[in-house]
Amino acid sequence: MMKNLKTTTWLSVCRSRTLKKKPLKKEIMGQSLVLFRDSQKKVKALDDICPHKLASLSDGKVINDNIQCPYHGWEFDGKGACQKIPCNIETVHNVKTSFYDCHDDGDFIYIKWGKENIVKPQFPILKSHSWSHFQYEIKAQPLAILDNGFDCSHTCFVHSGLYRSQPHQKVTSNIEFTEMGVKVTTVEEQNIKSFVGRLIPGMNSGVAHTDEYKGPYSLEVNYHYGNIHHLTYLHAVPIDEERTQVIISCGIKAKLIGPLLNLALKYITDKIIKQDRKILASQEENRKRTSKQPAYMQKSDLASTYLKYQYENHFRIQKKAMPNKILKAEFFL
Ligand code: FES
Ligand SMILES: [Fe+2]
Repeated sequence: MMKNLKTTTWLSVCRSRTLKKKPLKKEIMGQSLVLFRDSQKKVKALDDICPHKLASLSDGKVINDNIQCPYHGWEFDGKGACQKIPCNIETVHNVKTSFYDCHDDGDFIYIKWGKENIVKPQFPILKSHSWSHFQYEIKAQPLAILDNGFDCSHTCFVHSGLYRSQPHQKVTSNIEFTEMGVKVTTVEEQNIKSFVGRLIPGMNSGVAHTDEYKGPYSLEVNYHYGNIHHLTYLHAVPIDEERTQVIISCGIKAKLIGPLLNLALKYITDKIIKQDRKILASQEENRKRTSKQPAYMQKSDLASTYLKYQYENHFRIQKKAMPNKILKAEFFL
C-alpha cells in the first residue's frame, strides 16, 4: 500500500487493446489488480487476491461474467461478489473481494482510485492524427517524470541536436493555473536547430506550444508548427514506491506526410525517452542516497515550480489557496 495518496483520480492503466479474453494482471499504487472483460466486453477490475486461500485471480479464467480462481474454482463477478463455490453443497452468501470502477473509452482503460465522484478523463485519440504509443517502466517517482516532460530547458542539453540545441533565443511562457493543474503556453520560438527542426516543415517559422499538467499523473502537450499539429499525452502512474509506469501517446496531424512523419517521430520519441531515463535514474539514485530536494529554482524553472505546487496539492485534504493570476516567464531556449 502506498502512503500519501489522499485524492480520488482516474488512473490510466493500459491501452484498451491490451486487454483481450485473458485476465490481465496490473500492478499500480503498490497493489496487484486483475482486469478482465465480462460477456458484454465491459472492463472489470478486482484485487488480484482470492479471499479464499490467496491465489492470484489473474492466473484463472473468465467464465461468462465472472473470473474464476485457478485454485478451487470460486467465481467472482465484476463487483467482487462470489457467485459460485463449486465444491460447496450449500450456497454461501457474502463472500467478496474489492472491486474498482473502470472506464474504457476504447483507447485507454482507466481505474478509479478513491471514492469521490469525479469527471471521467479526457485524452481523446483523435481520428485526424497518426498515432504511436509507448509504454515504459521507469525507476523514478511520477513527479520527476512529469517534471521532465514539463521542463523545456533540459531539451537543449539532454536532447541537443535531436530536438533542440544550445539555448539561443528568448521565448516567453505564460503560466496559468487550472483546476487540475497548470497550463504553460510558450511562444516566440523559431529557428530550431536540430534534427527535428530540419525534419518538420514549418518548425522554423514559428512554434507555439502548450504544456499542460493534468493532475495528478498526466500531461498533455500540444505543438503547432505551421499546419502541423503534434499532440502528446503522458500518463505516469505509480507501480509502487519506486517504479512508475509511463504510457506516452503521440499523434501527428499533417497533410499527406502525417504517417511518414509519424514513423520518424516514433524513432525520435523512443530515443528521447532513452536519454531521459538515464537522467531520471541518476536523479532518483541521488535523491534516495541524500534525501536532498531540488533547489535554486530560476525564472526558467517557473513552470516546474508550479507543477510541483499543484502535484502536492492533489495529495492534501486541505488545499492550499492558489494564486489567481497569469504568470509570465522569459528565458532562453
Ligand atoms: S484460493 Fe481461490 S478458490 Fe481457493
Ligand atoms: Fe526529455
